[in-house]
Amino acid sequence: MDRTDTVIAPSLLAADFARLDEAMAAVAGEADWLHVDVMDNHFVPNLTIGPPVVKSLKAATGLPLDCHLMIADPDRWAVGYAELGAYNVTFHAEAAANPVAIAKDLRAAGSKAGLAIDRDTPVEEFLDILPEFDTLLIMTIKAGFGGQAFMPELLDKVRTARQAVKSGHLELRIEVDGGIAADTIAAAAEAGADAFVAGTAVYGAQDPAEAIRRLRALADSVLTSDATVRAVRSGGG
Ligand code: DX5
Ligand code: ZN
Repeated sequence: MDRTDTVIAPSLLAADFARLDEAMAAVAGEADWLHVDVMDNHFVPNLTIGPPVVKSLKAATGLPLDCHLMIADPDRWAVGYAELGAYNVTFHAEAAANPVAIAKDLRAAGSKAGLAIDRDTPVEEFLDILPEFDTLLIMTIKAGFGGQAFMPELLDKVRTARQAVKSGHLELRIEVDGGIAADTIAAAAEAGADAFVAGTAVYGAQDPAEAIRRLRALADSVLTSDATVRAVRSGGG
C-alpha cells in the first residue's frame, strides 16, 4: 500500500462557519476529502448544517465531500446527500432501521456508502454487512462535538474491523473520527485505520495545510516502517 493511500479528511466543524470558503481554500491541495459533520439536534444534541449548505459546498469546491450524518432516520434522509453529489455518505448504525438498504440507495445514487459506529456501539454485530459498504467510520470519541479527547481504547474496534477486512478481502476504508492529532494519528494507523478525520488539529493550527502534511507523514510513517501493518492493511498477510 503506497503512501498516497492515506486519506486525510479535515473536518469543517472546527472551521469558522462564516468563512467556509476560506476554510476550504486553506486545505485544497493537501486534503483528500472534506469532512462535513451533519448534526440534527436529535441523534446528537448539536445542530450544524444540512442539505442547503452541502449543496453550496459542492458547488464551491472540487474536494470530495465526506458527509458524516449524525442524524435520526437516515433511512429517509441519507440518500439526499448522495443526490447532492457527496463523494461518501456515512450514516450511523445506531440510527438506521435497515443499513443495507440505505447502502444500496447511496450507491445507486452515485456515492460511496459509509457506516458509522459510535463510542458505545460494538462493531461485531455489523461485521456481516461490511461487504455492502465502502467506508466504516469508527468514532474515537462520542459523536456530537469537536475538540474532545481521543479515546485509545476504541481502537480495539479498528483492529477488529481491520481483521474482518483482511479475512473477507473487502475493499473498505476504515476511517477514524475524534481527537485525531499529531499525538494520536500513529496509534490509529497502527490499529489499521487508513482514513483520518481531523477538525481541531487542522483548523486549530496556524497553518492548516502544514498540519495536514504533518498528519499524513505521521500516518504514512507507520505504513512504511511496519511491514506487518502494511501487510494487514493491504489484506495481504
Ligand atoms: C464529532 C465529529 C467530528 C469532529 C472531530 O462528532 O464527528 O468529525 O469534527 O473533531 P476533532 O478532530 O476536533 O476531534
Ligand atoms: Zn465527523
